[in-house]
Amino acid sequence: MFTVKRLVESGNCYQSIPLEYVFETNPNDDCTNITDAADTIPTIDFSLLTSGSPEQRSNVIQSIGKACLEWGFFMVINHGVAKTVRDEMQRASKSFFEQTEEQMQEYAGKKLFDPIRWGTSFNRAVDNTFFWRDYLKVHVHPHFNAPQNPPGFSEILQEYCKRSREVAGELLKGISKSLGLEESYINKTMDLESSSHQLLVVNLYPPCPQPELAMGLPPHSDHGLLTILMQNGLQGLQVHHNGSWVSIDPLPDSLVVNIGDHMEYKSVLHRALVNGGATRVSIATAHGPPLQKVVVPAPELVHRENRPPAYRGIKYKEYLELQQSSPLDGKSCLTHV
Ligand code: SIN
Ligand code: FE2
Repeated sequence: MFTVKRLVESGNCYQSIPLEYVFETNPNDDCTNITDAADTIPTIDFSLLTSGSPEQRSNVIQSIGKACLEWGFFMVINHGVAKTVRDEMQRASKSFFEQTEEQMQEYAGKKLFDPIRWGTSFNRAVDNTFFWRDYLKVHVHPHFNAPQNPPGFSEILQEYCKRSREVAGELLKGISKSLGLEESYINKTMDLESSSHQLLVVNLYPPCPQPELAMGLPPHSDHGLLTILMQNGLQGLQVHHNGSWVSIDPLPDSLVVNIGDHMEYKSVLHRALVNGGATRVSIATAHGPPLQKVVVPAPELVHRENRPPAYRGIKYKEYLELQQSSPLDGKSCLTHV
């Protein structure tokens, strides 16, 4: 497969990148680098949500609601996912891509619902310009899958994904409350305890000789309810906020969380830029309802707000198919539904 990693290692783009990766507009032209620390995504102390006093818990729920409304993104600290687990997950994920092409070949050219898929760009069948990104996608819940190699990858992947489901479950309780719903509302109505769908995506962005011309991932919003993102300390993620692109520089040891298209708050566009110096790795776990679930806006909220539902009910599986087969055009896919 013609991955970006292979392109870089071949030495064929030592000074300039192939035309098929060049975007017409310089992604850096319209970006705002916010340096004022007060104006970045909010920080949520997870430990106060799970073991704070009633007052601390109610404050943190309010902050989550505000973060969802104003940014659609927040950083989570004190989340309880051990540093050893995160570090090992980072290391093992990167080493997946360091295998020979033959070792990864069995996962190449796979379809959306195949358990494990190794690929490049977003969807090369529909991408007009290719993205500077290789990926590994694994469906990890309700049925666990994992590549057999490198050794130990499967075990750490299982552990990390389980831990991230726990974090997502607790955050969804807080989000339910922030919407004035019962704590277990989202978890229950979406059947999350037993059969939530969880997709692991490892994004590999090799160093790019002309980072101002290429794009790692174009503007998009995420499917599902919540995405939890961990990255290897290199910047690249930008969030669309009040009409500008804001670079996100997460606190060390934090996880970045964003709400997806199926949440009762509005999901937010984000994108990934690339850099000239080093390989950036980001690991996302996307948490959604069961694939067969027909998702509708919460009737309680539609009723309370007294306005028509914002989208028609659609099976989560169909939505995923739609999103993954459409060119990423900077709109939430629900607007096409
Ligand atoms: C994503 O949006 O799925 C990944 C963004 C990133 O690499 O920071
Ligand atoms: Fe995303």
